[in-house]
Amino acid sequence: MNLEVLILAAGKGKRMRSSLPKVLHRLGGSSLLRHVHTSASALDPDNVVVVYGHGGETVREALADTDAQWVLQAEQRGTGHAVQLGLASLPEIDDSVVLVLYGDVPLIRTSTLQPLIEQAHNGVLTLLSVRLDDPTGYGRIMRDRDANVLSIVEEADADDAERVIDEVSSGIIAVPGTLLRELLEKLDCDNAQGEYYLTDIVGHAAAAGIPIAAVLADDQDEVLGINSRAQLAHVERIYQRRVAQQLMDGGVALADPARLDVRGELHTGEDVFIDVGCVIEGSVTLGDRVQIGPYCVIRDSEIAADAQILEHCVIDGATLGERASVGPLARLRPGSRLAPDTKVGNFVEIKNAELGEGSKVNHLSYVGDSQLGRNVNIGAGTITCNYDGANKHRTRIEDNVFVGSNTALVAPVTLGKGATVGAGSTISNDVPAGELAVARARQKSVPGWQRPRKDKK
Ligand code: UD1
Ligand code: CA
Repeated sequence: MNLEVLILAAGKGKRMRSSLPKVLHRLGGSSLLRHVHTSASALDPDNVVVVYGHGGETVREALADTDAQWVLQAEQRGTGHAVQLGLASLPEIDDSVVLVLYGDVPLIRTSTLQPLIEQAHNGVLTLLSVRLDDPTGYGRIMRDRDANVLSIVEEADADDAERVIDEVSSGIIAVPGTLLRELLEKLDCDNAQGEYYLTDIVGHAAAAGIPIAAVLADDQDEVLGINSRAQLAHVERIYQRRVAQQLMDGGVALADPARLDVRGELHTGEDVFIDVGCVIEGSVTLGDRVQIGPYCVIRDSEIAADAQILEHCVIDGATLGERASVGPLARLRPGSRLAPDTKVGNFVEIKNAELGEGSKVNHLSYVGDSQLGRNVNIGAGTITCNYDGANKHRTRIEDNVFVGSNTALVAPVTLGKGATVGAGSTISNDVPAGELAVARARQKSVPGWQRPRKDKK
């Protein structure tokens, strides 16, 4: 038998009060839709069809790198209508189970979906239900005295007695394709919201004596739907707790698992330590024994074994060699490549620059579009003047160069091997290897100098 997955993602998400379509809001750095798509893909389905509407092309672009198929639901006439459109786009469903996922239920795990699909393969209409401490907003599951599922009643249509029921529909459902098609034909929009409710197929199935199973999810969190910003923030915390737990299970030491945010993928070696308040974005790799100080932001970077990032650093698009040390309060911008045993200190900005082994930029400097050899020492307040107002130019600093403090290196310029630059210089010509360059006014002393005095009134 085949498996087809429909992801419903056409809604605007009024309750978010946002111009961004709801399914494009971010959880752990990726869109809600991407989370659902990733779980669906892991089931190895024949097709994943996303029903989209609000946000149009922007929603499609969000999954442009996948093989998702798209069906436009121009007018949002309800989840039942969305499934009808999705189903109609599939060439062949007679031998298929159709799994319906909601674009706003992002924490769902593949392992929870598998048993639903298995039951549906046996001809059972299978839905994923859950007991919630607060069922407000969800469709309630109605059962008879023998606990057989009778129907789902939406919040808007429920009376007080029904609202008390805490077993709710996650919205997620697995049904044999042909059965689903038949049941959808029976839907109408005679309800409080004037919509075609997918959940109404349950009542029709029960009336027709079709076997129904409600699989109770044992993890409440997994089926939480996101309709408001408060719910998004709540689910974000759950997601981050999951990630922190996985990291700790993998041997990472976290000063406080509640004070780390991973918005992407974090790969870690052994005995990594991360202090409080750090944000990890994109794809980040931390080698063995890497130490990250408090309040750092690290994005799309690779940090090799035994390197340390001290407090309050921004590391973006950088590569750090073994034992490199950065910070506190340093900023590495894209293209920063630090060789092993390098040191970048406080108030230093590095951009598109390579630091050779053992080189140091310890204080208050800007090094951009530069190539530094080994064991270079850049004094405090050194600036590479890489921009002439129109173009960027490169600075080359060869092995063992010593640059004195408060130096401006006007690119393009090369400092040859072992050269020395006197403090306070403005260097706009190349310095030959081994030579000393001093480019500043000579000091003069004025003997007998009197300071001006205040006039007497
Ligand atoms: C839905 C279920 C409810 C369930 C809850 C779980 C229905 C009628 N109700 O309610 O039983 O407890 O989810 O989270 O199904 N969508 C479309 N086209 C539409 C309408 C909705 O694609 O015409 C999409 C939305 O983008 C969203 C999903 O379907 O991703 C669910 O829609 P939403 O309006 O959030 O339904 P709920 O009221 O949460
Ligand atoms: Ca919802």
